[in-house]
This record gives sequence, structure tokens and C-alpha cells, in this order.
Amino acid sequence: MNPKERIEQLMARAKSLNPPQTLKLAAAEFGSRVTFATSLGEEDQVIVDMIAAHAPGIEIFTLDTGRLFQESYDLMAKNQQKYGRQNFKIYYPDTKAVEEMVKARGINLFYESVDNRKLCCGVRKVEPLRRALANVDAWITGLRRDQSLTRTDAQVFEWDEPNQKIKINPLLDWSLQQVRDYIKQHNLDVNPLHAQGFVSIGCAPCTRAIKTGEDIRAGRWWWEQPESKECGLHDNPKFRRTSSPGGTASLPERPKD
Ligand code: ADX
Ligand code: SF4
Repeated sequence: MNPKERIEQLMARAKSLNPPQTLKLAAAEFGSRVTFATSLGEEDQVIVDMIAAHAPGIEIFTLDTGRLFQESYDLMAKNQQKYGRQNFKIYYPDTKAVEEMVKARGINLFYESVDNRKLCCGVRKVEPLRRALANVDAWITGLRRDQSLTRTDAQVFEWDEPNQKIKINPLLDWSLQQVRDYIKQHNLDVNPLHAQGFVSIGCAPCTRAIKTGEDIRAGRWWWEQPESKECGLHDNPKFRRTSSPGGTASLPERPKD
């Protein structure tokens, strides 16, 4: 069966399933060849808790870009303590690629252009993601449909063309309120920055708090247009700029030593 037929079958089976049942289905279908990507967001904390309770075999990983908030590292430490350190894998960017990028374009290159920003996301997130997904057929994310206009046409099971994997979004149709209700009911730890107006949290230099009524992702890469606001982890071809595909902007040639 090719992956697209497999997705159709999974979609048919998942129609009436709630998120824990979807995770159980993922574990039964993919065994050790499925993994969950957590960015330590509210949705991710919910999924970690559901995995621990309903599908404990599923591996969990974070991409540590090297530019995360201290509060995100503290939450990571709490998770390790609560659910077991061996259950969380952390991937780091390639040291040489970071060194070359920073040398060529500066430490805060992302503020200078969308290309620079996508290059940084490419080096610090997209390439490590490729490594994290090297030995799996499917990955689970905390995406929700109403987070962004680039996510409105996502599906609970979908084909991730850039990564050539099946992507599973168990909370896709949950509202932020449902996520927060679950957190409250299960007394889960969350990033303390949420209480200061941060909704969607990524790297520290590229995330800020939002005001009431502002779009959920208004605090991410706030200097860019909404349709640019994907880092390449969740690239939607419909919104791809032809001049600058997500995460693939290349560095200028290295100066000869
Ligand atoms: S991003 O593409 O804009 O950075 P966002 O922060 O909305 O993504 O998170 C959506 C989902 O992408 C998360 O629920 C998680 O599954 C995955 N994700 C994002 N950032 C990371 C990260 N640093 N490490 C692991 N997974 C991540
Ligand atoms: Fe770099 Fe900002 Fe992307 Fe993090 S979010 S990888 S700091 S551009």
C-alpha cells in the first residue's frame, strides 16, 4: 500500500476518534516508526500527557534551536522529571552550519530579511527535523487548524511532502479553549510565559507577547507578513514564496581560508 492509500484508510478509521484514540491508533499502526515533536507549547503538553497515559511507546523529541527561552528549558526539565528523562530526545543543529551562518550573516540575521529568517530556521530546525524523522514513517505534531491561515486545510492524517512522511495532528480540530480546559483538568505544567501573553512560543528572539484580540501567531516573526510565518517545519506549498522556499535559502559560498 502506498502512503497516500494508507492515509485514506487511517482517515476513515480515525473519523470518530478522539485525540487519545488517535494516538493509540498511531501507535498500533506504526509501532516504533512514529515519533512526536514537542515544542513545549500548550498543545504539546496535552499530547505528552496523552501519550504517557494511552500510548507510552511513542518516542518524544524536541528540536533545541539554541535560541529557546529559559522558561522553555525549565519546562523541558520538569517534563523529564515527571515523565522520565529517557522518554525525551533532544536534537541540536549542526555546529558547523550554525558557525558558518552566523559568520556570514550575523548573530541576529533573522531580523534582516525573510530569506535570512528562513535560512536560520532551516539550519536550526528543518535540518535537525530531517534527522529526527530519518527512521520513522510518521510524526505527530500539536498543530491546530485555527492557529494560522496556512493550517486551515490540514488533516488529522496527512502526507508531509517536504519530509516524505505521514503527519498526524491529533488536536487539529480542538480550540485553544479545549486545550486549556484539558490542561486545567489534568493539572499540567505549562510555560509560564503563557500567563504573560505569549500564546505561540518559539525561539526567544522571534517570539513576543500578543495583546487581547490579536491573532494567535501575531507574536511570531511579528515583522513579517502572515503568509511568510512558517518556519519550514510545516511548509504549506500553497503559501510558498517562489523566490524563497522555506528553509532552503542557501548561504553564500564560504570565503576561502
Ligand atoms: S512553528 O513551525 O511555527 O515553529 P509551532 O510553534 O506553531 O510551529 O508548533 C506547531 C507544532 O510543530 C508543535 O506542536 C510541534 O509539534 C512542532 N514543533 C514546532 N517547533 C518545534 C520544536 N522546536 N521541536 C519539536 N517540535 C516542534
Ligand atoms: Fe532562527 Fe528565529 Fe527560526 Fe529560531 S525562529 S530558528 S531564532 S529564525
